[in-house]
Amino acid sequence: MRAFRASVLHCLADPGEKSDRAAFEYFDDGLLVVEDGHVADAGPADELVGKMPADAEVFDFTGKLIVPGFIDCHVHFPQLDIIGSFGAQLLDWLNQYAYPAEMKFADPDYARDVARAFVNELLRNGTTTALVFGTVHTHSADAIFEAASAKGMRLVAGKVLMDSNCPEALRDDPQTGYTESKSLIERWHGNGRLGYAITPRFALTSSREQLEATGRLAAEYPDVWIHTHLAENHDEVEQIARQFPDSRSYLDVYDRYELLRARAVFAHCLHMDDEDRATMASKGGAAAFCPTSNLFLGSGLFDLPAMRAAGIRCGLGTDVGGGTSLSLLATASEAYKVLHLQEHALPATRALYLATLGAAEALYLGDKIGNFAPGKEADFVVLDFAGSPLTARRTAAAQSIEEKLFALMTLADDRNVASTWVMGEKAENED
Ligand code: GUN
Ligand code: ZN
Repeated sequence: MRAFRASVLHCLADPGEKSDRAAFEYFDDGLLVVEDGHVADAGPADELVGKMPADAEVFDFTGKLIVPGFIDCHVHFPQLDIIGSFGAQLLDWLNQYAYPAEMKFADPDYARDVARAFVNELLRNGTTTALVFGTVHTHSADAIFEAASAKGMRLVAGKVLMDSNCPEALRDDPQTGYTESKSLIERWHGNGRLGYAITPRFALTSSREQLEATGRLAAEYPDVWIHTHLAENHDEVEQIARQFPDSRSYLDVYDRYELLRARAVFAHCLHMDDEDRATMASKGGAAAFCPTSNLFLGSGLFDLPAMRAAGIRCGLGTDVGGGTSLSLLATASEAYKVLHLQEHALPATRALYLATLGAAEALYLGDKIGNFAPGKEADFVVLDFAGSPLTARRTAAAQSIEEKLFALMTLADDRNVASTWVMGEKAENED
């Protein structure tokens, strides 16, 4: 048994929908108790310390803040080295930057190298779970699963399916895409903490035959994830309408191929109408809100209130390399700005929800991770208010935990992540 003494904050529900009392718990002098890698308890230190067995190991992080490990609902590990590529919106950006970067993954050694660096970056930023795109190459999925497995992380990933409207070197075909994905599912899905996501890149880069084969594969494996992009960019949406004239909307394309269901996660969801939102909610699809990407690629503004009002599960995604940071704190800060441009606010506690419990619910992992309910896996981050001179000053001046957390999400970088813990074990930084 281990216990961690610090300020402890976690969400119980969406603070945008429930009262503060019902939505989060905060223990200023708190104790997180971990047994066999799982949460045993979380509460006030003065109540819990006395109950600890004599041989329990107590880590004293007084003055710091423990929150659940961050969950990234959408990110591309092969795009690590093209973050911050200049001057193009989605379709040009794919051709100029993303596809050439992904071609390098034909080399399995290179894929393994990037996968290890990527997982280190996740942990350095306090991210303990992610839903991850690979490349079209089967070994890219093996590489990211091996890297995550070495760290004991809960991670969901998949090989990309793409057979048209893209460079020849990045194409599979309906049959190989199906069989390779199937063998990856057999190899990795449910292997330790890993899960498989069937990953059609987006409807523009899959033939109808491939979408059909993908739907068939998904039907064979109802508890596997589906991970794709939806309604990100205006030119993309127009091309979809031309390519699929018989579909009512972009979402309807996926729906017709049986790719809209529970455990289907759609990145972006910017250009949708109320009917789409109602359909997505009723079928159990989830949205990844990727604000740094949406601003960087000039894609548009995610309408969180409309999505949540429709009943859609939502979590934050970094979408690196279209996104500009692997930090979910930095991502939360941009989410605040995206909502502010639409005359909404995003309090820090709700941002925390979108990066933890909300994200876990979006990934249908709310029974395993996302907060400190007893029995959940003990993935957490120790945040240091004083990680930089400026955050030390700003948070010292704050009056409440909400204000402190908001200042942190606005200003933090990896200096503010004191340590990241996976199932109660410290993740060692490897550089
Ligand atoms: N849509 C299809 N592929 C991609 C990608 O790699 N990044 C983003 N942001 N959108 C996409
Ligand atoms: Zn993406």
